[in-house]
Amino acid sequence: MRPENTASAKPLSSEKPKILLATRNRHKTLEIQTMLGEGVIVSDVTGMAHLPEIEETGVTFEENSKLKAEGISRHVSGIVLADDSGLEVDALGRAPGVYSARYAGPGCTDEANTALVLKKMKGFPDEVRSARFRCVLAVAENGTTLALFDGTIEGMLAHEVRGEGGFGYDPIFMPEGHQQTFGELPAEMKHTMSHRSRALQQFRKWWAMRT
Ligand code: IMP
Repeated sequence: MRPENTASAKPLSSEKPKILLATRNRHKTLEIQTMLGEGVIVSDVTGMAHLPEIEETGVTFEENSKLKAEGISRHVSGIVLADDSGLEVDALGRAPGVYSARYAGPGCTDEANTALVLKKMKGFPDEVRSARFRCVLAVAENGTTLALFDGTIEGMLAHEVRGEGGFGYDPIFMPEGHQQTFGELPAEMKHTMSHRSRALQQFRKWWAMRT
């Protein structure tokens, strides 16, 4: 019998596999869809009012990623993928870390977060501007985590906002080996090296073994 519309139903020959992301961050969804390619249909929980808002009460990327994947997977069939990610600045004791999305306060904008990091780092020379992006992906089904994958990209903070590309802290982060920020580098370049692409590479392998 043909499987019904589940988030990760095994594809019939002409059916594209589907992945549901436990996020309402369209930037993450777009990046993950772009990196997984057109052979997979990636959707997120935007507009799914019946699904709960998952509180990110964890203090690590792993904990928050699991909370989101497990929390949403209790309400849908099939596997759910969650991304918890953020920026760690060494001179700020690895802040904003898991608080990256709300560093300047609840409901704040990417611009406000970025401005706050730059303000706190004002006057710090290049030698102490090391930073990294981290991403932990969790896959869950029926409320249980099946696997975790993580990815990191080391780099340095710029002294000012540069570039229009990407989202979040991209315009102030220069990945190692580059003088341009993720906001200035083409998206395709970001996708070859980002924390998210590194975690996603591992997820891809896991998923290929499973399907
Ligand atoms: P989360 O939804 O709690 O995982 O928050 C992630 C936050 O980290 C985002 O809102 C961004 O501020 C930041 N972040 C994560 N990944 C990226 C990225 O690829 N570029 C820039 N900022 C990112």
